[in-house]
Amino acid sequence: MDKRPASLKRITTKKAAEKFIDQQVKEIREQVKDQKVLLALSGGVDSSVVAALLIKAIDKQLVCVHVNHGLLRKGEPEQVIEVFEKNLGANLKYVDASNKFLKELKGVSDPEEKRKIIGKVFIDVFAKEAKKIKNVKFLAQGTIYPDILESKGVKAHHNVGGLPKELNFELVEPVKYLYKDEVRVVGEALGLPKDMVYRQPFPGPGLGVRCVGAITKDRLNALREADAIVREEIGKLKDKPWQYFCVIPDLKSTGIKDGKRYMGWAAIIRAINTKDAVTAKSYEIPYKTLYKIRDRIIKEVPGINRVLWDYSDKPVSTIEWE
Ligand code: XMP
Repeated sequence: MDKRPASLKRITTKKAAEKFIDQQVKEIREQVKDQKVLLALSGGVDSSVVAALLIKAIDKQLVCVHVNHGLLRKGEPEQVIEVFEKNLGANLKYVDASNKFLKELKGVSDPEEKRKIIGKVFIDVFAKEAKKIKNVKFLAQGTIYPDILESKGVKAHHNVGGLPKELNFELVEPVKYLYKDEVRVVGEALGLPKDMVYRQPFPGPGLGVRCVGAITKDRLNALREADAIVREEIGKLKDKPWQYFCVIPDLKSTGIKDGKRYMGWAAIIRAINTKDAVTAKSYEIPYKTLYKIRDRIIKEVPGINRVLWDYSDKPVSTIEWE
């Protein structure tokens, strides 16, 4: 196994992060010289920190590709463009592949099948973009130490560990010996926004696993809006849970509007606390916040006529619904 060097002390302070950054900048420059480096930038903590590090080290030699699979949360693609292209001047290629993903996922309700399709289409789209960029020898990845410890490598569905071999890249993995908390400290020292560096975990297949059952554009859009409301309202609390989001099952129930009956979807609120995501306790959402969320979702999100709260613990209920 690729082991963390004993000389690498735990990074807990800005000073230690700056030392790490200086060292990595030097090593990256030595490794890639004047060559181009490609990076799949999801906007998650790990790939964002790697992007910021590489921009510091080699600036425009880094080519970031942000694939929008249409399963991202509200505001995420915009934040990637804002932070990396506008603020850091990154060489960023934005690929909106949301229609392709929707098409491939049409009618597929089995969760594992959905994950496989999302992973495969992601790799196809990324590989196609990679081939368009000439003379790229290196691929940067946001592998972190727990990925190595779990010995599964990177998660195939959202990182590019499964890229076809013929692309023949040499890897650049500057944070591969760091734990998540250290990656966050480094991200802050690099000047990335706090809400990006400290964001809650989000599955690679994104809203795909929270739009339960076969995904449709309408239900996905409703989920994205309802999820943004849940995040905004729970995010206002002083004592925030570890993870909080919204789920929409493929389930309709009766509602009344203007004296007429209509069928609408149910939105489900989930908020949990955990140390390691292996077990989790439902977080006690204050009633005021629950009512506020309910009122806002019913008023602001078309297609939803019922709001529920999933207050189950893990076990037996997994954090995600799929
Ligand atoms: P479960 O649902 O297994 O989730 O209780 C445990 C934690 O893992 C996250 N999760 C994922 N993360 N890709 C990821 O990167 C995935 O496919 C995935 N599925 C679940 C989940 O959000 C929770 O924090």
